[in-house]
Amino acid sequence: MERIPIAKTTENKGRQVKVAGWVHVRRDHGKIIFIDLRDRTGILQVVFAPSRDEAGLGVYENAKHLRSEWVVAIEGKINERPANARNAELVTGDVELLASNLEIISESLTPPFDISDERAMQEVSEELIMKYRYLDLRRPTRYKNTALRHRIIKFIRDFLDKEGFLEIETPILTKSTPEGARDYLVPSRLHKGSFYALPQSPQQYKQLLMVGGIEKYFQIARCFRDEDTRGDRQPEFTQMDLEMSFVGQEEVMNLNERMLVELVKAICPDKEIQEMPFPRISYDEAIKKYGTDRPDMRKDKSNPNLLAFCWVIDFPFFEKTDNGSWTFTHNPFSAPKPEFMKDLLTEKNISKILTTQYDVTLNGWEIGGGSIRNHKAEALEAVFKIMGFDEERIQNNFGHMLEAFHYGAPPHGGIAWGMDRLVMILAGQPNIREVIAFPKTGDGRDLMMNAPAQVSFEQLRELGLSVKKPEI
Ligand code: AMO
Repeated sequence: MERIPIAKTTENKGRQVKVAGWVHVRRDHGKIIFIDLRDRTGILQVVFAPSRDEAGLGVYENAKHLRSEWVVAIEGKINERPANARNAELVTGDVELLASNLEIISESLTPPFDISDERAMQEVSEELIMKYRYLDLRRPTRYKNTALRHRIIKFIRDFLDKEGFLEIETPILTKSTPEGARDYLVPSRLHKGSFYALPQSPQQYKQLLMVGGIEKYFQIARCFRDEDTRGDRQPEFTQMDLEMSFVGQEEVMNLNERMLVELVKAICPDKEIQEMPFPRISYDEAIKKYGTDRPDMRKDKSNPNLLAFCWVIDFPFFEKTDNGSWTFTHNPFSAPKPEFMKDLLTEKNISKILTTQYDVTLNGWEIGGGSIRNHKAEALEAVFKIMGFDEERIQNNFGHMLEAFHYGAPPHGGIAWGMDRLVMILAGQPNIREVIAFPKTGDGRDLMMNAPAQVSFEQLRELGLSVKKPEI
């Protein structure tokens, strides 16, 4: 008999079916054993009752051995539950399966935490959950978040495909690109002493795709930043990254706003967007009024379904570092607002130059940011000169970009959304770890795989590396 998903059992009242999954909970009432059987579609009550069991005592006796998280396949008849035994909390709450055959597929050790008890899970240490992430993933709420993430990403792919965008993968082994964080480095075996950097974002590649005539690019892109992990930050995270040619700020912002609104309508119809079009506020005003550049604009913070999007614009391009030199506030590849181009090129009134940067915030989180870029080499060069880079450093780090811009670069701009943050908010979760299948701990470890880990002497030798003992 072919297995049916548990959610389909309600359509099969009175019929003989086969289901398979994990033992969620087992209740032994002496003459009768109940189990809640779980698969990815739901939970179903299964009854082992020797008096009603056509197959006789055998199945019931076998069911006595069952324990939590064993994998089983069960055949039996779907019966309507008596009115007083219905469970409104389960999708299958008005039916149950009277078992006539039980196959034990895999036994399980006693799990280190009770997957079936959501409240008790809140008391379990983060370390234990991360070590046994594959068990944690079995929780129905976890599955819901994982499925929501899939549906959001699928929506984005379909939406951008219809708009004429191409999804293009850019390299993971690449060169350092400044996004304000430390790079993760990968030593090269063939070029000893040289290192790849993992991308902090696909920023440079997507701009080079514009020079390459692609015009409309997007990618669900993995990014890597060696920075301290927080609730809204992981060392490895995902962006919805896009770039467009022959556009200005308005076109990029409008496309993104349309995509966000349609995404919410299609995937989270219970959510309500507070204000459309999204309000726009300058960086100055945001700081003066809210004391932050990612204001929480919700009028009713107790409403879990309220979404208050906001655009923050008109950021200063540069800020002073601790040592008194200038650095970029957001993105060195951004163009200034057109009225400040002359100041940029002549390196004047630097503190007053505003960038075309636009950030999109949601309920107090920065969920995305982008800008129109400098597509003229001299303007990009001016940014690095203001930051005090000498000619050699500019050529070494960005010579390829400057050169590309001498071969007919179209005007272009784009944006990247923090996918983990967006999914976190739409899933009503407090931390991006909740919406990432295999996240890292606060100090950047993967406790399940035990990474980072030491490597063999042989591997180090091949790479031309030796590790100094840490000084204590
Ligand atoms: P930015 O650095 O602002 O822009 O990143 C875009 C968005 O990515 C999310 N984000 C993160 N999410 C989780 N963990 C992190 N460590 C992390 N860092 C950033 C945020 C942020 O808004 N190349 C530019 C984009 C562009 O200009 O097109 C960039 O990466 O939600």
